[in-house]
Amino acid sequence: MVSELDFLDSALAAISSASTLVELDRVRVHWLGRNGVLPEAFRELATLPATERNATGQRLNRARDAIEDAVRKRRHVLEAEAVEKQLARKRIDVTLPGRGTLPGTLHPLTQARLRIEAYFLGSGFTIATGPEIEDDFHNFTALNMGPDHPARAAHDTFYLEETVLLRTHTSPVQVRALKRWPPPLRIIAPGRVYRRDSDLTHTPMFHQIEGLVVDQGITWAEMTGVLTDFLHDFFTDRLNIRFRPSYFPFTEPSAEVDLECFFCARRGCRVCKQSGWIEVLGCGLVHPQVFRQSGLDPDEWSGLAFGMGVERLAMLKYRIGDIRWFYDNDLRFLTPAPVASGP
Ligand code: DAH
Repeated sequence: MVSELDFLDSALAAISSASTLVELDRVRVHWLGRNGVLPEAFRELATLPATERNATGQRLNRARDAIEDAVRKRRHVLEAEAVEKQLARKRIDVTLPGRGTLPGTLHPLTQARLRIEAYFLGSGFTIATGPEIEDDFHNFTALNMGPDHPARAAHDTFYLEETVLLRTHTSPVQVRALKRWPPPLRIIAPGRVYRRDSDLTHTPMFHQIEGLVVDQGITWAEMTGVLTDFLHDFFTDRLNIRFRPSYFPFTEPSAEVDLECFFCARRGCRVCKQSGWIEVLGCGLVHPQVFRQSGLDPDEWSGLAFGMGVERLAMLKYRIGDIRWFYDNDLRFLTPAPVASGP
């Protein structure tokens, strides 16, 4: 009861035996909280005779101060203990390997494309682009593939309408560039192309880079020079290169370019299908019909053209085993080799 005030000792005892901050708070609420023992005692003051009220009130005040003080001190002690405990638990193990950093990187296809672009920009080419949704004329007819040309069949085209399609190669940009810019001209045209094809080495969408040089007196020697120099630069190795006669409707003569298989040094392996050579691009001298379809006189102008698959070049350069990895968004594929964290 108020008059006895013998609760001070038990309050102080409860406070000093509280062993956690939660427990201390429970004790504090019990004694000092709105419905706690002390506020209740203060309320009872009113029922005391006037003569006792003053003295009891003063003793209650002192008791409350003492309890508040004890709670504060105990809280300091418990907080310090808690910090100690946490520090002990969180001790840094300097023998653990560092976490390192996970830097972002450009997608390997972007890296390959930028590298190819940089080479040709440095050789006086400019970059041209064309639409991915093409018409039959630019994708086929102007490239010397008339309506019944058998080469059309090889393209496995996605048609949107009868004469509107997803371009099957970047070669239509040749025609668009010739119609737009009067020669002489040197362009490359990087971009997406589409074919109904999907397996280990084919995806329905892939990337090509087209090249076109038109001037007077362009020769086969100039073409082999441009492409040999480019391949040596791209693969940073003076690998053997061979120009193998081939056929494309929009070039004459035409060739496919093979690179010595650097996986097996021409001994024959799975990558080169035991041939010792890997095909990397197609090229040739611009067919007169392409000039005509583009409004140019084939007797006045000559040109060289080439087309390469960016996935294919990137797979060879970065030793990537499956074309689908380019599009899986697997972080292991997209993360560069881990960077050592410190000495
Ligand atoms: N357009 C051809 C293809 O997709 C590649 C190509 C071959 C482009 C020879 C050319 C070229 O410019 O001259 O298979």
